[in-house]
Order: sequence, then C-alpha cells, then structure tokens
Amino acid sequence: MTIAQRQRFYALVENDLAELERRLRDVGRGAHPTFAAAAAHLFGSPGKLLRPTLVFLAARFGPGARSGVIVDLAESLELVHTASLVHDDIVDSADLRRNVPTVNAVWNDDVALIVGDYLFAKAYALAAVLPKPEVIAMVAHTVFALCDGELTEVASVPAMPSEAQYLERIELKTASLYAACCQGAALLADAEPEHVAALGAYGTSVGLSFQITDDVLDLIGGSESLGKEVGRDLAEGMPTLPMIYAVEADADGAALASRILALDKGPEELRDLIATIRSSGGIERARARAQAFHDEAIAALDRLPDRPEREALREIADFILRRQR
Ligand code: FPP
Ligand code: MG
Repeated sequence: MTIAQRQRFYALVENDLAELERRLRDVGRGAHPTFAAAAAHLFGSPGKLLRPTLVFLAARFGPGARSGVIVDLAESLELVHTASLVHDDIVDSADLRRNVPTVNAVWNDDVALIVGDYLFAKAYALAAVLPKPEVIAMVAHTVFALCDGELTEVASVPAMPSEAQYLERIELKTASLYAACCQGAALLADAEPEHVAALGAYGTSVGLSFQITDDVLDLIGGSESLGKEVGRDLAEGMPTLPMIYAVEADADGAALASRILALDKGPEELRDLIATIRSSGGIERARARAQAFHDEAIAALDRLPDRPEREALREIADFILRRQR
C-alpha cells in the first residue's frame, strides 16, 4: 500500500490526484525515447504527492476554478519539483532517491541535465496557459527562488551559516514551492485575498517544517526507510540546522565546524561526526524548531473557514513533522 492510500488527508482530493497521476504517467508520451523512458522511470513511483495535494485542497477555499485548470497548476508545480530534484541529484552525485536509482545513476549526468530541462519546459508550457497572469508569474518566481536557494548551497564559500542564513536558504529552495502550491491554487480559485494570504503563510511554514525535518532525517534515518543515503549533507560538507546547533553547543565549536565543513571525510569520521551531533542536543533543538513552524502553519489555518479541507491541511502539517522519510 502506498503512502497516498494510507493517509486520511488524501481522501478529499482522491479524484484530482488520480487524474494528476494519470497525466504524470503520460508526460513522456510522443517525446524522445530517452525522455519517455526517464519520465516512465520517474513517475513509476510518484512519491508522496504532497505538493499537488496542497494545490487541490487550497483550491477548495475559492468559489471556483475549473478542475482542469487546477490540475494544470498541480502538474506544472509537480514537474518543477521533479525537474529540480533531477538536477539536484546531478549536483549531489546522488545514486538513490525514494529507494529508486536516480536518472543520473541509470543514464548519466548529461541525460539527467536534459531530462530536467525537458520537465521544466513541460511545466512552463502548462503554466503558460493558466488563466491568471499573476499565477504564471508566481510559477516563474518560484523557479527563481529554487535556483537562488540551490546556488546559495553550491556557490558559497564553505562556512557555518547562522540560523537566519540557513532559514533564508531553505525558504528559497523548499518553502517557496509549498507556498506557491497553496497560494497559486487559492488565487486560481478566486479565494478571498485574506484566505490567499493565510494559505500562503501556511505553505511557507509547512515548507520550512518539512525541510528542517528532512535535514534531521538525513542524520538519524536509516537509508532503507529514508529511500536515499543517510549522512549525505554531512558527507558533502553541507551544514544544516542540527549541525549549526551542535556547533553552538560544543566547547570547541570552531573545530567541530571545520570538521563538518570538510569535504574529504572517511566513513569513520562520518560515523563519529554523526554521533557527536546526535549527542549534542542539536537534533532535539532542530526538531523543536520544526515543531514551531508546524505550529505557525496551524495558526495560519485559523484564518480560514472551518471546512474538512482545513482539517486535511492540519493533518498534512502533522504528517510532515512526524514522517520518517
Ligand atoms: C533538494 O534539496 C533540492 C531542492 C529542493 C531544490 C533544487 C533546485 C535546483 C536544482 C534548481 C533548478 C530548478 C529547476 C526547476 C530546473 P536537498 O538536496 O536538501 O534534498 P535531498 O536530500 O532530497 O536531495
Ligand atoms: Mg540533494
């Protein structure tokens, strides 16, 4: 049974999700055979589909947009997300995602680069025909944000960021897309401006909570349950919130920071660093920060009318915080 079948919050938008999954299975149809094969590989195991679920739920807070238009937005943003992961896996030289070999691992980096471009172009083709220019612009601005967040990771001088710098980076690379799903759908559905704003705020907070949890799981998860390699951030010298807190708590923070930032860690050093970070209290403090963003997301929901969709959004926030992968 997939996650999609297990969680209650999917039930309200089951039909929309089924239509989206059907369209995703079709993404490669008629395209270059290598792209068709890569698309089949990518969408054969579609993942949690949290972002499209947010699109479908948020759209219910407006008096109406044609369902096809909402599915267009959901598909467009899911393709942006998938394109960004395909490119991110090249950047990270990752072999595994969602327990499935990455496109760069099955084919190679060059193929993955172009498959990502292809997906992104498909995403933009869908966005371009949306009936509201402000939503089209929002999709483009979300891609700018993803690129800004990713460039901050890959192009900055190795250094321990402050908590504020870390939060700014994850807001760009992750939360911007969550916000766009919620806000874009509400705009398309002609929701009241205060409801659009509340959904945008919910999306940002839930996105921040998601990424902090992701960064915690990277340090404590088992690779089997996580579906990708554990300790990747550390292996790459990519500082995340639990590491920032571990450095703050350490008697010799500067030494710990340079060990975290080092690029040439052997397996023993990796194990030792993970143990040091785990015993520093950094994991618990990062979890508390994720909980605080979760609570902010829930508070934003108070500004929405009391509907089953609002309860589903609450359940998604809980799921994001408690998930194991
Ligand atoms: C995963 O983060 C990566 C992202 C959320 C954003 C990646 C963005 C780009 C590559 C910019 C290009 C965008 C497009 C649309 C072509 P992570 O590395 O922290 O998470 P992971 O552990 O799941 O890889
Ligand atoms: Mg990555």
